[in-house]
Amino acid sequence: MSIYEKHVFVCVAGKTCPTQGSEAVWQALRDEVKACGKLESIRVNKAGCLAQCGNGPMVVVYPEQVWYGHVTVEDTAAIVHEHLLGGQPVERLRYVKTKPAAS
Ligand code: FES
Repeated sequence: MSIYEKHVFVCVAGKTCPTQGSEAVWQALRDEVKACGKLESIRVNKAGCLAQCGNGPMVVVYPEQVWYGHVTVEDTAAIVHEHLLGGQPVERLRYVKTKPAAS
């Protein structure tokens, strides 16, 4: 049994995500989870490089292993309400690897 129902990782390191606003995305996700009273069951962690540089800010949600790319602060409410709370990944934000990531 998992300690958390959902575990969210936001890349805040590496060469590109930090320059694309990933810290603000992390903060917005965490703030929205907190506002919903779910901090004990949904963990939002800062993560190191997720090796998909140039497609960020990158976010990955476990246990589903759903990846999101190019996430903005404006997108975070949808991720929290539709996916983390509602159980339906936000298809329009899903990251599909189409080319090698920048190194
Ligand atoms: S810098 Fe975010 S995936 Fe590498």
